Amino acid sequence: MAFPSGDDASTDWWRSAVIYQIYPRSFADSDGDGVGDLPGITSRLDDLEHLGVDAVWLSPFYRSPQHDAGYDVADFCDVDPLFGTLEDFDAMATRAHDLGMRVIVDIVPNHSSSDHAWFQAALAAGPGSPERARYIFREGKGEGGELPPNDWRSVFGGPAWTRVVEPDGALGQWYLHLFDSSQPDLDWTREEVRADFDDILRFWLARGVDGFRVDVAHGLVKAPGLPDYTVEQRAAAAEGDPAAQSPHFAQEGVHEIWRRWHDVVAEFGPDRILVAEAWVQPLTRMAHWVRPDEMHQAFNFAYLMTAWDVAELREIIDDSLSSFGSVGAPSTWVLSNHDVVRHATRLALTAPNPQGHGLGPDSPGLPQVDHGIRRARAATLLMLALPGGAYLYQGEELGLPEALEIPGDARQDPTWARTQGERFGRDGCRVPIPWEADAPAYGFSPSGDSWLPQPADWAPFARDSQRGRESSTLELYRAALGLRKAHGLGTGDLTWVDAAEGVLALDNGDVRVVANVSGDDIPLADLSGEVLIASEELDGALPADTTVWLRRG
Ligand code: GLC
Repeated sequence: MAFPSGDDASTDWWRSAVIYQIYPRSFADSDGDGVGDLPGITSRLDDLEHLGVDAVWLSPFYRSPQHDAGYDVADFCDVDPLFGTLEDFDAMATRAHDLGMRVIVDIVPNHSSSDHAWFQAALAAGPGSPERARYIFREGKGEGGELPPNDWRSVFGGPAWTRVVEPDGALGQWYLHLFDSSQPDLDWTREEVRADFDDILRFWLARGVDGFRVDVAHGLVKAPGLPDYTVEQRAAAAEGDPAAQSPHFAQEGVHEIWRRWHDVVAEFGPDRILVAEAWVQPLTRMAHWVRPDEMHQAFNFAYLMTAWDVAELREIIDDSLSSFGSVGAPSTWVLSNHDVVRHATRLALTAPNPQGHGLGPDSPGLPQVDHGIRRARAATLLMLALPGGAYLYQGEELGLPEALEIPGDARQDPTWARTQGERFGRDGCRVPIPWEADAPAYGFSPSGDSWLPQPADWAPFARDSQRGRESSTLELYRAALGLRKAHGLGTGDLTWVDAAEGVLALDNGDVRVVANVSGDDIPLADLSGEVLIASEELDGALPADTTVWLRRG
């Protein structure tokens, strides 16, 4: 069932929407197997409507052997039995639409699972076959082809190539996988690959989805000839040298695919959208993904990666509004997702932690839990005041910190195994979320099972512990979302206001936002206007790590 829409305002819904990411494995488990599922989601949608979000985005629930938590898709047009059935999907989407929330699903075009029928056929058919041409198979280097075709590295660690055993039993070609070896990259120079994905998009659009979050939208196209990407080039790229561009990400050729997808999505109405997950820098380049005939939105990872620092925040907010604005797109804002350390821990870390490395109990620079949560609440209140769209990740509305105490043998992110435990990976932000303080698995699962262990001290974070409690993080989010809507902040304009050192102040419509990032206490008497909401209780002053919204006088 499609979302009932039609007028111009509903066509543009995404320009200012707050979109809530559901990570299905960890949201709500209805059948007690310890893994969340679609009926579980359906049963909890009322809570999201109560929170006040405009849409949900679901991470993959497709058929998959789950080597990368479902981002290894074995059938793009079916639901994995772990999560339910296509009928369960329809029931979930119908319920969300009835509650006034749009539904966005993930699509993973850079690679398939090695279990996908396409890849199995490619293995069976052997070198030179049309089946192999769907993927990126190459002969190895060295006398016996024993060396990988080039020096590319997997994002999860280790080489990006794996050698196969040919149908005749001999060691043979290598295939490319920018992620896990169970995620072979598709060859997007092939028209059959493009045509198949057009059909996959249409399949879900016809089922009523309102859009797609496009996984690895900077991938897909590789530089012709698959040239090496040397250590020196990688280092130069990390320093921001545009000439040292990766041969496997952000290739110019990807844009014609997004123009084609734009047209497919538009067949189903002007209110269906594409959202790019593209780790591209700088933002002026990222903006190419959201030109008027390409995607609608892109995740603003530059904002997510920004430290809790006045100068850096101001610069990234300006850059975001001008870069996306230069192509007529709204900016988006995001602080957490299933790939990064939760912002209730990340923003208060005092040691560097590169994206994807994750945290363990003895990692350097870990903050006090309360300090991290306080900072996260202030950061969220700043984010929700900015014009554009915002993305929330399940559990952040509960103030959840990163889960640190996950034993090695319980860790599931392929990063952990592929780096022999050197990087913890992303499990710490993926732990099933708590609903009820006193129920088994905190109400996540009726059996008490949970695919990743939940911390023993999460009862105070449970939704039922927070609901109706004025000072709780849940009620802070709910009130902020209501005020954001009532004051039109998502569609507003931002003007900076002079402020003391360590303080960020801005006006958006009739709301003044003051974030005391690191400055001295500001007496409330110095701030004119009625307090609409504050991230902490104000005792005559706005202390550091606190944000307030005031009604401008
Ligand atoms: C994206 C997803 C991540 C996944 C990867 C490979 O970055 O967000 O979770 O592991 O793509 O599909």
